[in-house]
Amino acid sequence: MKKLVGFIGWRGMVGSVLLDRLQKKNDFFNFRSVFFTTSQFNGKSPKVLNCVSSNLEDAYNIDYLVTLDIIVSCQGEKYTRYIYSKLKNFGWKGYWIDASSFLRMNKKSIIVLDPVNFSSIQSGINKGIKTFVGGNCTVSLMLMALGGLFSHNLIDWISVATYQSVSGSGSKSMLELLEQIGFVYKNISSYLVSSKKSILEIEKIFTCSLNRINFSEKKIKSPLLGNLIPWIDKLMDNGQTKEEWKGSVEANKILDSKKNIPIDGVCVRVPSLRCHSQAFTIKLNCDISIKEIKSLIISHNKWVKVIKNDFDSTINQLNPLKVSSTLDIPIGRIKKMNIGKKYLSAFSIGDQLLWGAAEPLRRILNILINI
Ligand SMILES: NC(=O)c1ccc[n+]([C@@H]2O[C@H](COP(=O)([O-])OP(=O)(O)OC[C@H]3O[C@@H](n4cnc5c(N)ncnc54)[C@H](OP(=O)(O)O)[C@@H]3O)[C@@H](O)[C@H]2O)c1
Repeated sequence: MKKLVGFIGWRGMVGSVLLDRLQKKNDFFNFRSVFFTTSQFNGKSPKVLNCVSSNLEDAYNIDYLVTLDIIVSCQGEKYTRYIYSKLKNFGWKGYWIDASSFLRMNKKSIIVLDPVNFSSIQSGINKGIKTFVGGNCTVSLMLMALGGLFSHNLIDWISVATYQSVSGSGSKSMLELLEQIGFVYKNISSYLVSSKKSILEIEKIFTCSLNRINFSEKKIKSPLLGNLIPWIDKLMDNGQTKEEWKGSVEANKILDSKKNIPIDGVCVRVPSLRCHSQAFTIKLNCDISIKEIKSLIISHNKWVKVIKNDFDSTINQLNPLKVSSTLDIPIGRIKKMNIGKKYLSAFSIGDQLLWGAAEPLRRILNILINI
């Protein structure tokens, strides 16, 4: 009999992208599915092949959850924190696949990114590991972009500045940014076509109208339109944000590094809707040519694309709008830095809802249903 897979959090940003990918790739043919909710208890399941119930089930119903072979949760950390230990205490032996960070650094879990760590995934399955977690979005995108350099042990350390889109913070944050756009447009639209106000007066109306909004009740605690927020997640003891901390610990866990590779930087929320971008400063272990670097990068996986370091290629191919909804990982602005011959700069973009979240989950699900 085909395995029974439960989906929790399928309505959110990551969950809906995952659902879309599973449908496009016809994956629902390979297992039976059931959909859960934490809030829409009278709602209907999405219409997919082999779905065993047309109604949404209660995501807190342990008796039902323990009957499943595989649970895929895109619901978030709070839900995993609450339900995972209860399932384990119940003696549930199924596979848990998760988009949230809660279990990533757990010794009994594997962070999945199979183009980078397929052998760790395989040996984990053989050893009886049951918990498979998608990595932090910028970490997965960085490893997809720079995998060719990591796999040849060429990286001494990385300093990274991220430019992370609002959808990385969930559906509510994306809706808030769109509300900000609508609100500001109402205030300035009449002046854009008339010459009643100077450009500086229009800029003032834009800025004042955003600054007048009370953000205390909002998910994004400050205006994001026309703005940026150099802070993502909570403060750690050493002054990093948790997002910055994840950059190093998760990357080293995925790479199964013998020696810790220092990775640090500043993570910044920007008002793009989808895709995370990253500017890297990389200290290499040796002085190798740009030609060799590019060739190692593109030979690592079929999704990474090296973009020519010229203006037209950069503006046309290295921007979030172009990359949104694709599995492409373009990397450009590759150049040696004036600091020294072992210093490299590069800029990469990826859809954080695809390679940064849903796609590694879809791929591990396809591996586990065949066990
Ligand atoms: N967003 C990313 O780029 C990203 C990347 C990597 C990892 N992650 C992690 O993945 C987990 C899920 O993130 P997410 O961004 O998908 O969260 P999300 O969009 O906030 O969705 C989470 C849940 O919120 C509920 N919800 C409430 N209002 C909603 C609305 N208007 N539209 C859709 N859903 C709504 C849904 O649950 P019910 O249907 O049960 O109400 C949904 O499953 C988090 O742990 C996050 O850290 C996210």
